[in-house]
Amino acid sequence: MPIKIDQNREHPIGVFDSGLGGLTVVRELMRELPFEDVVYFGDTARVPYGTKSKEAIVKFSKENVAILLRHKVKMVVVACNTSSSFALPILRESFSLPIIGVIKPGAKKAVEITRNKRIGIIATSATVNSREYAKEIHRLDPTIKVTAQACPLFVPLVEEGWTDRQVTLTIAEEYLKNMKQFKIDTLILGCTHYPLLKAALKKVVGKDVLLIDSAKEIARDVKQLLEYTKKNRLTNKKPKHTFLVSDEPKHFHLLAQKFLGTAIKHVERCDHV
Ligand code: DGL
Repeated sequence: MPIKIDQNREHPIGVFDSGLGGLTVVRELMRELPFEDVVYFGDTARVPYGTKSKEAIVKFSKENVAILLRHKVKMVVVACNTSSSFALPILRESFSLPIIGVIKPGAKKAVEITRNKRIGIIATSATVNSREYAKEIHRLDPTIKVTAQACPLFVPLVEEGWTDRQVTLTIAEEYLKNMKQFKIDTLILGCTHYPLLKAALKKVVGKDVLLIDSAKEIARDVKQLLEYTKKNRLTNKKPKHTFLVSDEPKHFHLLAQKFLGTAIKHVERCDHV
């Protein structure tokens, strides 16, 4: 870093996720880079990735990049934590454009802000099993103590819109019991769906525990990567945001507003070839 993107500066930023969750990353990109075009691909036909094998996750991730390339993206943001954990090095070997994932930016922020050097990670089972967050944290500071917990029920709860129900709090209490005993002061939300549970999670872990939203951190990194200086800002240009999914767009359409904060006018179905 920074990787220079000399050509096609005006081409869109490509973002993919296993489904809807990556829209939390698009929301932050829109905030940080309001004049950039974005193409989002949600692999809704094959979500969830968090319970799949490494082979499947790598194969799906490669196919997702290929779809984004058809839309002439200038770089790819792997919004999915599970894909970032398993596929990032292989994607970088396989494609020649800049590709960045969410693990490094989230881990870096956590290392920066922890005061007692005890960090918790919540994520899908696959991301937790990959230990990528822990490895990155220990690469930056080997003295930090890390604990991780897979929270597979959080994804369906968020997709159902049950972000503030009692049942969600009860499940969160159960999942985060060990984190509280471990006395973490920083919690990485290692899944694209979890930023929508921030309020519930705060209630459970207490207001003194800092929550790290990888979506925010990666958006800052993208901005840096694009060397987003004043001269590159196309002030009069209205950005184009394109949303593609691999299955029926209706469900995506309904929930997208929750993740993105604004309504999406059009969602297109786009099949893998
Ligand atoms: N997008 C996935 C992630 O960030 C969560 C959903 C899934 O299991 O596919 O890890």
